[in-house]
Amino acid sequence: MRIAVLCSGGDAPGMNACVRAIVRAGISAGHEVIGIRRGYSGLLREEFFLNEQGEPRMSLRSVSDIGRRGGTILHTSRCEEFYSEAGQKRAAEILRKNKIDALIPIGGDGTFHGAVALAKHWDGQIIGCPGTIDNDLLGTDYTIGFATAVHTAVDAVDKLRDTADAHERMFLVEVMGRHSGYIALYTAIAASAEIACIPETPTDVSEIIRQLHELKSRGKTSVMMIAAEGDERGGAAALQKALCENGCPFETRVLALGHLQRGGSPVPQDRILAARLGDFAVRSILAGKTGCMAGERQGELVLVPFEETYAAHKPVPQDLVRLLETLAS
Ligand code: F6P
Repeated sequence: MRIAVLCSGGDAPGMNACVRAIVRAGISAGHEVIGIRRGYSGLLREEFFLNEQGEPRMSLRSVSDIGRRGGTILHTSRCEEFYSEAGQKRAAEILRKNKIDALIPIGGDGTFHGAVALAKHWDGQIIGCPGTIDNDLLGTDYTIGFATAVHTAVDAVDKLRDTADAHERMFLVEVMGRHSGYIALYTAIAASAEIACIPETPTDVSEIIRQLHELKSRGKTSVMMIAAEGDERGGAAALQKALCENGCPFETRVLALGHLQRGGSPVPQDRILAARLGDFAVRSILAGKTGCMAGERQGELVLVPFEETYAAHKPVPQDLVRLLETLAS
């Protein structure tokens, strides 16, 4: 078989470990692995990864020592053209022309929407791997890149805590998660922050002010608040403005961590998840499966139809929301 792999959408630490697993699993089972560069855009332009011999297929050596690297050696993109039926039909034509039997896209919900659209025009097999720091896909407990993004955010918040403590200030730290509070909530718990503003819970400015006064009366001199970029109040800068206008009892500073969270060497948890899912995606293709994401639930590898992965908002664990409230005292 000729199995193609691409990365699409926002990069996530661990994508390289996933590509490596796909290449090694595919080749060791006696198949060819074609690397498509720059996601669906690269597919439309027939941009293939060249191996050491200059051939348009990946070799065992193409993926040497990439498991520990952030980003993706295949590069990634967000592709406008692929939203159109004409783009999807052309992509299908290119896959047929290059005799590709199966495709493994690594990405998030946009990538999987693209896979479903492509499947209407192409009868090859498609098995996706969840690669996004947001952890916003249903059907898998964690997505590749989430653990590293949280690790990076926690490291940053730990450092900010030093200066917050020195100056007796409150910091509002904005983390990524387009529509999701996962990174914010996990970061808040791990970094011992007092407050997390996330899209899954109502953000009530007067309630936060009340809580801040209470914390101050209990002797707190510095506060860490984590805001998801997708919070309904509009992120850390907007929240700072609202808090200051409503009598915030602390001097405040804002930091948006932004794309910093997408870079860096993946933590072991992401490398292992990526390796397991990449290998499982190949084995699923060899078993004749299609139209699904390879995921991991409670340690078990599972196949989940693409449509189910983005059918609803993935709820954050309610026990962690409660735990944060308990610990912030
Ligand atoms: O989906 C991953 C993500 O990092 C989101 O958390 C964020 O909102 C978005 O991508 C940023 O996208 P871009 O890199 O295109 O600015």
